[in-house]
Amino acid sequence: MAAANWKMNLTIDKAQALINDILKEGILPGENGQVIFAVPFPYLMVAVDKLKNRKGYAIAAQNCSDKTSGAYTGETSVEMLRSILINYCVVGHSERREYFGETNGMLAEKIDLCLAQNIIPIFCCGEALDIRERDGQNDFVRKQIEDSLYHLSAEHLQQTIIAYEPIWAIGTGKTATTEQAQQMHYFIRSVLAGKWGENVAEKISILYGGSVKASNAKELFSCADVDGGLVGGASLVATEFVQIINALKH
Ligand code: PGA
Repeated sequence: MAAANWKMNLTIDKAQALINDILKEGILPGENGQVIFAVPFPYLMVAVDKLKNRKGYAIAAQNCSDKTSGAYTGETSVEMLRSILINYCVVGHSERREYFGETNGMLAEKIDLCLAQNIIPIFCCGEALDIRERDGQNDFVRKQIEDSLYHLSAEHLQQTIIAYEPIWAIGTGKTATTEQAQQMHYFIRSVLAGKWGENVAEKISILYGGSVKASNAKELFSCADVDGGLVGGASLVATEFVQIINALKH
């Protein structure tokens, strides 16, 4: 899976042009090749409409509320997303955790709401640089997974995608090495296996995010436990993102 995370970028004209430029390549994503665009809220309906007959392409929201409905000015509920035919939602991106105070507990609520509406959560986890420097990344990521996912049934976990995004690699141009990515993805899968069993763990897509670009995508995606990428900066450039889609395992 190649998931584009546009973040707070692009006006509508540029957004439409970007999707058009990517679609005109006519890439037919294979079994592992689902392509997702996580676009800003105002563009969701336009984007869903654009992709409606394109097999293998889907739209994601970048966030959702942890409340069901009511007096929460400025928030967007999962039910609203479902009502406009959204199938995926990014949950717990490190920018939301850092700048908007999202906690593991809130993310557990968001994940439950998504799953109840048949929206696949793309759950982000990953450590900051100081944690990596003292070799605390495994404990840190395990705790994120425990706090936000451990309450799920095996069935629900299998409808969840995990994105490992080391914060020190996001938007910095500093990508994790293939060894670092593979080690952490293997670790995450072993945490999942410990809780839900190996059969379940093997079925979960674990994406890598953090300065994925055309030039490093193939190498990262060749790691046994890396099932694709969550891509920020490089997803805003059609030629880059097209190469990233083409780098997915077939
Ligand atoms: P980046 O962002 O590819 O620009 O590092 C990734 C992300 O934040 O999802």
